[in-house]
Amino acid sequence: MSITEIKKNIFSVGAVDWNIRDFHGYSTEKGTTYNSYLIKDKKIALFDTVKLEFKDDLLFHIGEIVGDPSRIDYIIVNHVEMDHSGSLPEIINLIKPEKIFCSKNGHRALLEHFHQEDWPYQVVATGDTISLGEKTITFIETPMLHWPDSMFSYVNEDKLLISSDAFGQHLATTERYADQVSECDLMHQAAKYYANILMVFSPNIQRLLEKVAEMNLELDMIAPDHGVIWRGERCADIISAYNNWSHYHSHNKALVIYETMWHSTHKMANAIGSQLAKNGLEVKILNLKVNHRSDIMTDVLDAKALVLGSSTLNNNMMPAMADFITYFKGLRPKNKVVAAFGSYGWSGEAVKHINQAMEAINLPLAHPGLKVKNVPRDEDFLACRELADKVAAAVKELK
Ligand code: FEO
Repeated sequence: MSITEIKKNIFSVGAVDWNIRDFHGYSTEKGTTYNSYLIKDKKIALFDTVKLEFKDDLLFHIGEIVGDPSRIDYIIVNHVEMDHSGSLPEIINLIKPEKIFCSKNGHRALLEHFHQEDWPYQVVATGDTISLGEKTITFIETPMLHWPDSMFSYVNEDKLLISSDAFGQHLATTERYADQVSECDLMHQAAKYYANILMVFSPNIQRLLEKVAEMNLELDMIAPDHGVIWRGERCADIISAYNNWSHYHSHNKALVIYETMWHSTHKMANAIGSQLAKNGLEVKILNLKVNHRSDIMTDVLDAKALVLGSSTLNNNMMPAMADFITYFKGLRPKNKVVAAFGSYGWSGEAVKHINQAMEAINLPLAHPGLKVKNVPRDEDFLACRELADKVAAAVKELK
């Protein structure tokens, strides 16, 4: 990443990770960036650092702007997760900052991660401000976006929100702004990021959007810690998308997600998918052996119906379905109807286990579940269509 002056005397100084393909279980096929920002004022301030292996990129960029990194006075830790703090101990040793600003939870998390009692911490809370000289920073705590420690830093004079993980995308680019990259890639990666990282925190996001509105913060630029920066009218676009996603707005779309042993569950998936389409739903049939869990979650974000199928293996569901359900439950999707199906040889517990998992996260079952012994016959395909009809009817009842 080259250095970009995003506002007068405010620089993007982070690093591009072109090669990362797995981000704690989320497939990052487009890589990512670890954004860090530097304000050159009477006091020089660095906002977050980068993953440890990108420390030299950060130091090179800092050096280009201020020469000796020890000229930096303040480090602002908006978020302690290691993709933003991995290089923090080495950077602190080098810079010896006068102050490290963080939230109360951030202070605790920094101690728990780096075990340094004697760093010059200064805890800040929502509404606290510091002056760097010409520029003023207002802090906004944003707990659970993405961790309890997370906070935003708002540069008052520039109407710039440094938003940590929020509004990010895992998208490696040489360009720095949302309006410079493919719209299709941009919004797909923003949605994928929301679905796989932030969906579970949707109620917090709704409260945060309300708080930002109450604070009357004018936004001319939103600079997240991953991906490209939103500027001008694009700020309203990403806020509107977060408003929709956090309220679980969905389309007339159904997903048939399945794992099959000897093709019987696969045949059922196709029969169910065809009938859902006949009911006017947009349908995707997603075999867990060829679709990554995090890509499926991106489709889950705006789907109204999920029909989950698994053959029974050793009295349980198939392993990729168990993996998917564990991941899916953690992200707590809402406002969807579900149903389960699958083939079996002699016991057939997979459907029961899927139903129990859905009930545990309060997703309503549109059908008690369809089990077929060994290979489906004509009457079983009729039962698949009936299941699909029930799901389509339940979708009509959703808001
Ligand atoms: Fe990009 Fe929660 O770290």
